[in-house]
Amino acid sequence: MPRFSRITLAVTGGIAAYKCCEFVRALKKTGSDVHVAMTEHAAAFVGPVTFEALSGHPVAMTEWAPGPQGAMPHIGLNQSSDLLVVMPATANIIAKAAHGIADDLVSTLIAARRQPVLFVPAMNRFMWDNPANQRNVETLRRDGCFFAGPASGFQACGDVGAGRMLEPSEVLDLMDGLTVPKSLEGRRVVVTAGPTFEPIDDVRGITNRSSGRQGFDVARAARDAGADVTLIAGPCPLPTPAGVKRIDAVTAADMAAAVAGTLEGRGADLFIGVAAVADWRVTNARAGKIKKTDGRLPELQFEENVDILRMVGERGDVKITIGFAAEAENLEAYARDKCQRKGASLIVGNIAREALGGAENSVLFVTPDSAEAFGPAPKRDVADEIIRRASQILTKN
Ligand code: C5P
Repeated sequence: MPRFSRITLAVTGGIAAYKCCEFVRALKKTGSDVHVAMTEHAAAFVGPVTFEALSGHPVAMTEWAPGPQGAMPHIGLNQSSDLLVVMPATANIIAKAAHGIADDLVSTLIAARRQPVLFVPAMNRFMWDNPANQRNVETLRRDGCFFAGPASGFQACGDVGAGRMLEPSEVLDLMDGLTVPKSLEGRRVVVTAGPTFEPIDDVRGITNRSSGRQGFDVARAARDAGADVTLIAGPCPLPTPAGVKRIDAVTAADMAAAVAGTLEGRGADLFIGVAAVADWRVTNARAGKIKKTDGRLPELQFEENVDILRMVGERGDVKITIGFAAEAENLEAYARDKCQRKGASLIVGNIAREALGGAENSVLFVTPDSAEAFGPAPKRDVADEIIRRASQILTKN
């Protein structure tokens, strides 16, 4: 279940309003209850009937026709939601909200808010850059309002630049972390995630069952804590967390090179090695496809891959390194040994068969002198706990 599961969506008059249909559907799929309010101009782009059908609730458009939210919909809709999302947010609604103007249902809703509010701006790039708009955005930020986007790119009017609305999937991805404490503001974080794939020939290879979910959630948690995050991912089909820079790698050697390239010249505050990196690579991998010849088995030769976590620890340009230990037994002893051998400040131990692929994880946080159990909990909660502990270690150092 998402952190905010009772959403009021206020749609204002921009062409991107059509994307809100997909947003409502996506929210409903996560199990959220969504009520929609619209301005008159928004209804010129998408009819209220569409939102009524998608949300399963009547759409609120005016203060003057008492509906299911009672005689005062601006109060009822705020009372019944834990997040107000204004999407698309036009320059007009941003200006009104910044000045406390309440002259229609949506602006009155924003003025009477008691829950967090998220603006998802969409407008022409010159409107976005306009100093008046920039002042209004700044005012709202100072008032504690949240913003998602805008992105840069092609705009409906043909211009290219900042002002494009984020995709609904990106807004959804950012929503859960809005109110997370910004304990990594200004910090640079590098995360590895997923499996690696070590080729045997051009068709076959050796990999493992890591889904990448824990590592992707660690990248999300670091982003939500305010960090600048680079995620170096082995082959896994997960969507890139919004606002995170992703570099794809296939083999352990690729991943090591991507990590070294990312750290070169800039280092990082925090490196978290969540990837299940292959320990060995096949040295006699062949081009083409090895033929199956009756009675003859291929003979594979191996050599050890570089240990990325240890390599990062030895570089000296990363303040804190954190690793994982997926073990079948003796978790605490093995994890502590890894802490020492790899120079990590913290090892997150888990039992391999429980952690790989699932939605939940049970972990043991092991430092050179302590061990604390956490979970079972959703991988996102484990990720938040890792980031909380990492921030504490960073502050102490
Ligand atoms: O030694 P072991 O593979 O169990 O250690 C696991 C930890 O070390 C994980 O954090 C993993 O990402 C990291 N690791 C690495 N490079 C390797 C092997 C493991 O960074 N070649």
